[in-house]
Formats: sequence, C-alpha cells, structure tokens
Amino acid sequence: MLKNSAENLHRSVLLEESIRLLQPEAGGVYVDATLGLGGHSEAILEAAPDVRLIGIDQDFEAIGYAKERLAKYGERVLIFHSNFAEIKTVLAEAGIEKVNGVLADLGVSSLQFDTGERGFSFRFDAPLDMRMDADSDTETAAELLETLSEEEIADLIYKYGEERLSRRIARRIVWKREIGEPVKTTRELAETVEKAVGYNKKDKIHPATKTFQALRIAVNRELEILEDFVRDGIDVLKTNGRFAVITFHSLEDRIVKQNFQKLSGKCFCPPRIPQCVCGAEKRIEILTRKPVISGEAETTENPRARSAKLRACLKLS
Ligand SMILES: C[S@@+](CC[C@H](N)C(=O)[O-])C[C@H]1O[C@@H](n2cnc3c(N)ncnc32)[C@H](O)[C@@H]1O
Repeated sequence: MLKNSAENLHRSVLLEESIRLLQPEAGGVYVDATLGLGGHSEAILEAAPDVRLIGIDQDFEAIGYAKERLAKYGERVLIFHSNFAEIKTVLAEAGIEKVNGVLADLGVSSLQFDTGERGFSFRFDAPLDMRMDADSDTETAAELLETLSEEEIADLIYKYGEERLSRRIARRIVWKREIGEPVKTTRELAETVEKAVGYNKKDKIHPATKTFQALRIAVNRELEILEDFVRDGIDVLKTNGRFAVITFHSLEDRIVKQNFQKLSGKCFCPPRIPQCVCGAEKRIEILTRKPVISGEAETTENPRARSAKLRACLKLS
C-alpha cells in the first residue's frame, strides 16, 4: 500500500503550464495562495535558484503534509494558516512588500475530497461539514440547511450549482426539516436530492453533484472572496510580476476572466454612460487570451484536471 504522503494524496493540475506562465526568477519571492499538498510550491522552488516561497492554506491538515514535503528548502519557505483573502496581511506579517509572482489553484484538494469525514463527497457517509478550514467557527453545510429559508436554499443551489431543479430540491430539504428529520449527513443529502429530482443509476453524473458543489461554495464563501483576491494578488506584485489562477468551474473562471479584462482596461459600463464607472484601468497585460487547459495525457491520468482552466497576467508598471 502507498504511504500517505503529500505526493500521493493529491496530483497537481496543469503543473508545467503554470510554471511556464509564472516564469520563476532566481532569487524571486513567490506566493502559493493555495498551498494544498505543496505540489505547485515545490515546482516553483525547483524552477530557479534561491527562490523564496510564501505558502497560504486555510486547511491545517494540508499544511502538515506540505510542511513535510517542503522541509528540505529550509528557510526559503514560510507557511501561513490563513485565508488567501488575507494575502496582504500575510505578506505584511512576513515583512514582504512586493512579490514576483502569485499562484492560486482553487477549490478543494483530493485530500479534502477523499477524506470522508470532511463531508465534501457523497461517496462516504459523514456529517455534512464542507468547511475547508475545519478549525473555524463558520457554519457547516448542515447548519446552513437548518437555518436558511426555503427560498434562500433554492437560490443558493441555483446560483452556485447552476441547478435548474433547485426549487424542488429546496422544497424537499425543508420538508425534511418540517417533519423533524433535518438533513445532517452527506448520505441524507444525496438521498433527499435523489427523491426530489429522481435518479437513474445509468446517469453519468449523480443528481446531487451540483447541490454538493453549491453548498461547498457557499460554506467557504469561495466566489465572494475571489474578486478581491484577484485585485489584491495583482496589487502585491512588483512591475513585471506574474499572477496565475487555476479554476475548476465556470463561475470561478468567469470572475477571473472579467477581472483580468477590467484590469487590462476593458470597460464594462453600459453603452450610453458618459464616463466610465466600472473601474476599468490598464494595470495588467493578459498572458492567456484563451484559458490553458489540460492535455489528453493529463485528463486520462487525472480526471479532476478535465475542468481545470489556467489564466495568467503580467503586472504593468
Ligand atoms: C486544489 S488544492 C491545491 C493543491 C496544490 N496546488 C498542490 O499542488 O498540492 C486547493 C487548496 O487550497 C486551499 N484553499 C482553497 N480556498 C482557499 C482560501 N480561500 N484560502 C486559503 N486556502 C484555500 C484548500 O484548503 C486546498 O488545500
């Protein structure tokens, strides 16, 4: 049996492509805003001599594995248990003003997804938790389903899961609550969705997949913090510094794409407005006109890579 090490708990996605776009420079300082199991961080540290790396993750367990993996780089690596929404505070704590590059590989790691008790997957029966930062006192997915109204649950599943049948699913979740059987576990949620929308075992995708995605995004406020992170991540770059982001669903990718466009000078104001009010300004050059995606070899070996999209930009002076 394989030993549980960072290398075999999560396969880094678009690894070579992200290093090619980030172009680590000798002696440069880089931020891996989603350290995870340290795969991208290790590649950044190996890409050029004397690179220094600041790793951020909100998951203590992942940090433990990454620390072990990156121990050989000694003082060249500094690791912070934090949310990347706090990137500016983290850099201030590290005594660093500007960096040469920032990378974010969004979403959950395989370590989180494959650890049943974290509650991210209906492949295991476990409490419906889904917090990436298991030490925080933010609400779990089960708590959200217990406290939100039927309409709020439906809106959340529609908006973050792009689930057409969100109203039917929300109705059933709230009905379970009303009869004194609130949905508290991954299996109960999967079954509730199956009953609400029907389930044909031949379906390629389980009907609860989108609902699980929606709840995970809501619990971790994944989309709410992304726009500010793109701006802050670019703010902390030196001139000619590079910013690269890997996303895993269209909602995230849209936020990154639109913010890159805005920061590269494209105006999103309605046509007849006399003066731009959307904040468009030319601060970056986009390096990826189209997002970089995984090749067949990677998607065959790692199905998670199928939905990955990598975008990058360069900070102008
Ligand atoms: C896809 S994994 C990163 C894997 C990593 N690139 C590697 O090669 O091992 C995403 C990681 O980002 C962390 N993460 C996601 N959103 C975060 C946020 N807002 N702040 C800090 N960490 C976050 C998750 O806890 C997870 O460990």
